[in-house]
Amino acid sequence: MSGLFVTATDTEVGKTVIAGGLVGALRQEGIDLGVFKPMQSGHLTENPEGDAARLVRISGVDDDLREVCPYSYAEPLAPRLAMTRAGERIFTEDLLRHLQHLQNKHQHVLVEGAGGLAVPYTSDALVVDFVRELNFPVVVVARPDLGTVNHTALSVEYLRARGLTVIGVIVNGYGRAAPVSVAERNNPAMIEEVAQVPVLGVVPWLGDEPNESDMVAVVWDCVDLNSIKSHL
Ligand SMILES: Nc1ncnc2c1ncn2[C@@H]1O[C@H](COP(=O)(O)OP(=O)(O)OP(=O)(O)O)[C@@H](O)[C@H]1O
Ligand SMILES: [Mg+2]
Repeated sequence: MSGLFVTATDTEVGKTVIAGGLVGALRQEGIDLGVFKPMQSGHLTENPEGDAARLVRISGVDDDLREVCPYSYAEPLAPRLAMTRAGERIFTEDLLRHLQHLQNKHQHVLVEGAGGLAVPYTSDALVVDFVRELNFPVVVVARPDLGTVNHTALSVEYLRARGLTVIGVIVNGYGRAAPVSVAERNNPAMIEEVAQVPVLGVVPWLGDEPNESDMVAVVWDCVDLNSIKSHL
């Protein structure tokens, strides 16, 4: 199996926006990349506001939503808790079976996690255990503002302690609060220094109602796609 894993320092940091943008941008470069959101909570798979539907719209993949997101739960909770409350038990091997199906259709698959890395995920795995199973190189999406150096360094270290490859960090949502704070201006360089990891790009805040059709172009403009391509 070949692919990428997109995680973040927390929930709501921008994994779906960045993952959708990356898949769209890399596909425009001729790379056959599918997208997979194996466990989604907060919206059912078909819900147009859910991650799976947004990933498909942003990236332009033509796979069926059920292939992109086989397991979904309406409650906005950690996937394991939402799943348990829905009376289900899903295991890593279930996710891998669905991923294999997408891998048969695409050369590579980008996988979006849920929340951050220590999130209770399947019945038998945290998000990070699932990444370990895949052994895909990881992109970490980080907030731009105060606190992000700590969160990012901990996430990077957590991955490396398990032998995983961190391609780099994408700082997302830069400039949401104007004027840009001293912390925000300095954080990309501090992340590189403290976490010893490349910052692959700084993606600006696109407004309170961002246009999904802009997201591929923004990722294209702001992210070092060559570094990511070199890990595929
Ligand atoms: N650069 C940006 N500019 C404007 N809005 C953004 C940007 N990045 C993310 N958002 C918005 O912030 C919210 C959270 O982003 P997103 O859904 O991508 O986060 P996530 O990390 O995937 O969350 P989850 O943990 O629920 O999967 C969304 O409403 C999204 O549209
Ligand atoms: Mg998401």
